[in-house]
Amino acid sequence: MGICLSAQIKAESSCNTGLSSKYVSTDGSDLSSTGSKVLSVSVPPTPRSEGEILQSTNLKSFSFSDLKMATRNFRPDSVLGEGGFGSVFKGWIDEQSFSAAKPGTGIVIAVKRLNQAGFQGHKEWLAEVNYLGQFYHPHLVKLIGYCLEDEHRLLVYEFMPRGSLENHLFRRGSYFQPLSWNLRMKVALGAAKGLAFLHCAETQVIYRDFKTSNILLDSKYNAKLSDFGLAKDGPTGDKSHVSTRVIGTYGYAAPEYLATGHLTAKSDVYSFGVVLLEMLSGRRAIDKNRPSGEHNLVEWAKPYLANKRKIFRILDNRLEGQYSMDVAFKASTLALRCLSIETKFRPTMDEVVTAMEQLQDSKETGSANGHASNAPRIHRRSADDTISGRNTAAYPRPSTSALYA
Ligand SMILES: Nc1ncnc2c1ncn2[C@@H]1O[C@H](COP(=O)(O)OP(=O)(O)OP(=O)(O)O)[C@@H](O)[C@H]1O
Ligand SMILES: [Mg+2]
Repeated sequence: MGICLSAQIKAESSCNTGLSSKYVSTDGSDLSSTGSKVLSVSVPPTPRSEGEILQSTNLKSFSFSDLKMATRNFRPDSVLGEGGFGSVFKGWIDEQSFSAAKPGTGIVIAVKRLNQAGFQGHKEWLAEVNYLGQFYHPHLVKLIGYCLEDEHRLLVYEFMPRGSLENHLFRRGSYFQPLSWNLRMKVALGAAKGLAFLHCAETQVIYRDFKTSNILLDSKYNAKLSDFGLAKDGPTGDKSHVSTRVIGTYGYAAPEYLATGHLTAKSDVYSFGVVLLEMLSGRRAIDKNRPSGEHNLVEWAKPYLANKRKIFRILDNRLEGQYSMDVAFKASTLALRCLSIETKFRPTMDEVVTAMEQLQDSKETGSANGHASNAPRIHRRSADDTISGRNTAAYPRPSTSALYA
């Protein structure tokens, strides 16, 4: 198979795995000029052409008809989800030949098909191939291959049976049961490890689109980051940031990035803080269906996060009885640090991983069946916060777009 599988080095730290080779570009948005392969970030960065990117990966190049067959002609009932890029379909391919297989045989894949009219386009498609073609890590989704044929742009991933964190946190219905406290912490730790890997010295990539819909879950709720269309190489030399057009998803982008377009790894740390807060509260980063004053989760929750006696007000009451206040307070404090306005007060993703690991190890954490021995009684604030019966289909979903300050 592709480079993803050929480079399966055992992960011991955030950094020593998954980097089969490093191709550095000064600006991920300009991958079209010529350059050469380098093995370390100490070598001056060189942008790569499309040809170089495609040649250098061991990803499988699929024909459009292969993928048409694998997804049974992109059948509407095989749609796994839709995003700014286009629709994602479930399909099957033969394990050896990678040719289309009968449904239920071979390996299951997720095929993302670029919507020609969509906002995201070829550049994002190429960035995804560029980054996911280089990296292998247990907390990054595996890219198996791509299709580049005429106007068709597709990406073929490993299938993630439990879909996105977004669905588990915010979709109501019998299929999506609320995630327990322990599973939320497991997912947060996995996603943090994925970001820490991207930020580490050898990799130095800024992900830029960290949000619940881009965190996919395998059958055991291991989190894997997907969607590298907006990813950027971090600053090189003595530069402290990368200057970019402000792009991302409302509610997740760091304030200094929104204001100046200056992007650093700490922008991802802020987005991690937003996602951690979404997990703790069960609320969306932006939710216009909430009462006024509660539309923006960070603004609404911040005053409660630093106060141990007040944090119960922001905690998802579907988690009632599953955590101790001490552990919940530690998690809230971590979210608050990630959300610091000043970047220097935000932890690094390595520090976040350490803090999340300590939270998991904590004896005070609720047990697997969801009952913490010393959990205080927490009163529901409103029935609205449990199963609301709201039509989630009508929910405005956060989607990637250009964000102008
Ligand atoms: N490899 C996969 N396995 C299973 N489901 C997937 C996979 N990739 C994507 N999906 C599903 O398809 C949905 C759409 O994914 P996509 O990345 O296109 O858009 P998005 O993340 O929801 O939004 P945006 O375009 O703003 O990033 C995901 O939310 C997820 O539910
Ligand atoms: Mg996505």
